[in-house]
Amino acid sequence: MIRLFAFIIVSCLLILLAANSVLAQEETVCIQCHSGQSGKLAIPVEEWRQSVHAANGISCHDCHGGDPTDFAMAMSPERGFIGVPDFVGVPDFCGRCHVGVRQDYGESAHGQAIETGGAQCVICHQAHAVKQAEITLINEEDCSRCHEYGQAGEIRDALAGTEQIIEDVEQTLDRLHRFGITTDKMSGGLFDLRNRYRRLFHSVDVEKVRLQSVAFQDELAKIKQDIAAIDSTLAQRKIWGGAAVGLLLLGGIVSMLIRKTYHDEEGH
Ligand code: HEC
Ligand code: HEC
Ligand code: HEC
Ligand code: HEC
Ligand code: HEC
Repeated sequence: MIRLFAFIIVSCLLILLAANSVLAQEETVCIQCHSGQSGKLAIPVEEWRQSVHAANGISCHDCHGGDPTDFAMAMSPERGFIGVPDFVGVPDFCGRCHVGVRQDYGESAHGQAIETGGAQCVICHQAHAVKQAEITLINEEDCSRCHEYGQAGEIRDALAGTEQIIEDVEQTLDRLHRFGITTDKMSGGLFDLRNRYRRLFHSVDVEKVRLQSVAFQDELAKIKQDIAAIDSTLAQRKIWGGAAVGLLLLGGIVSMLIRKTYHDEEGH
């Protein structure tokens, strides 16, 4: 009886705790208060909900600081609130987490020209509606706001070629995996290659992107060779498998014929 009682109390406590941490994660005081505001104070909440950050548990206070559990003190500097960065402060603001990108960007033509009109992170990715980064972010409309599209388009073409090959190789590896073939080593190699490849863009250096694209495509060719080797063993296995089935069938027919002749002879 006492045990049952204790069990019920512990369960209730656990449920409360779980509910509380979900609440802390999803409905912080920042979100609660801001979604009740209007205009530019409320829009960030709606945009953020659809973002890659919300999907990965990065919330208002992770970027802006502050205390997400205390309505009255939420935005006080003593609780770590840092507010909104100015235009040139954005790369460091985002770069607290995206360290590699911050570095590549800092060395790029955009980073070097940030005081004189260079693009920074939120110009291309936005602040709240940040989506999974894709090559489609490079397009004539967005990239010709400050200069001609020419070099931007060349970068996009170079990246698109490599991206296509990466996708093809990925699909082939999936197919082999479904056949029950161990692809871990090749998949690991491809994963690593893709991460390195995705670092290339922020340099906005046409020459660098072109040269590295050639190097990446060489690496991809090696993975393709490994795949081709597996494919040919598979094909051989199929031929031998086919031959074996053929032999079995033949064996069956021959033994049937023999049996039939034997029976026929016995009958006479
Ligand atoms: C009780 C309501 C309330 C809570 C809770 C709240 N905010 Fe705000 N927030 C406001 C209002 C009102 C403003 C606009 C006036 C101002 O800046 O004080 C604002 C402004 C802001 C700004 C813009 C500041 C600027 O300088 O333009 C940011 C960023 C912000 N809040 C983030 C947060 C974060 C992060 C949290 C949680 C840690 C939070 N807020 C909690 C009501 C709230
Ligand atoms: C990925 C980091 C990030 C997250 C997460 C984030 N913000 Fe922001 N927020 C920014 C940046 C950067 C700016 C400055 C925008 C700019 O310069 O255009 C900003 C600006 C703002 C402003 C000022 C808007 C204006 O037009 O003046 C408010 C208010 C705000 N954020 C509230 C929030 C709230 C509420 C949340 C959670 C729902 C949130 N932010 C989540 C990065 C973030
Ligand atoms: C508190 C840490 C943090 C801050 C600050 C932050 N991010 Fe993120 N960001 C993440 C995490 C975590 C992810 C999801 C995992 C990943 O893809 O790296 C992510 C994902 C992204 C992605 C998608 C990456 C992809 O693989 O396609 C972009 C783009 C991005 N963030 C841009 C920004 C921008 C722009 C800012 C500043 C306005 C910013 N981030 C600030 C943590 C942060
Ligand atoms: C001129 C536009 C532009 C600027 C400025 C820019 N990005 Fe990007 N970013 C892109 C594009 C385009 C991609 C996708 C590249 C690809 O898929 O090959 C990308 C990819 C990313 C990724 C995913 C790739 C990776 O290596 O993780 C993150 C995260 C990211 N950007 C964050 C940032 C941050 C943080 C800043 C500021 C320091 C920034 N970006 C500045 C256009 C931009
Ligand atoms: C907010 C303005 C702005 C936007 C938007 C912008 N850029 Fe730039 N970009 C600059 C400035 C400023 C420079 C340096 C001066 C120059 O070369 O015109 C530059 C330079 C470049 C260069 C030349 C680099 C070099 O080494 O000479 C390339 C390539 C480039 N940007 C690509 C892009 C791409 C791709 C996009 C779209 C994803 C883009 N830019 C969007 C402002 C911008």
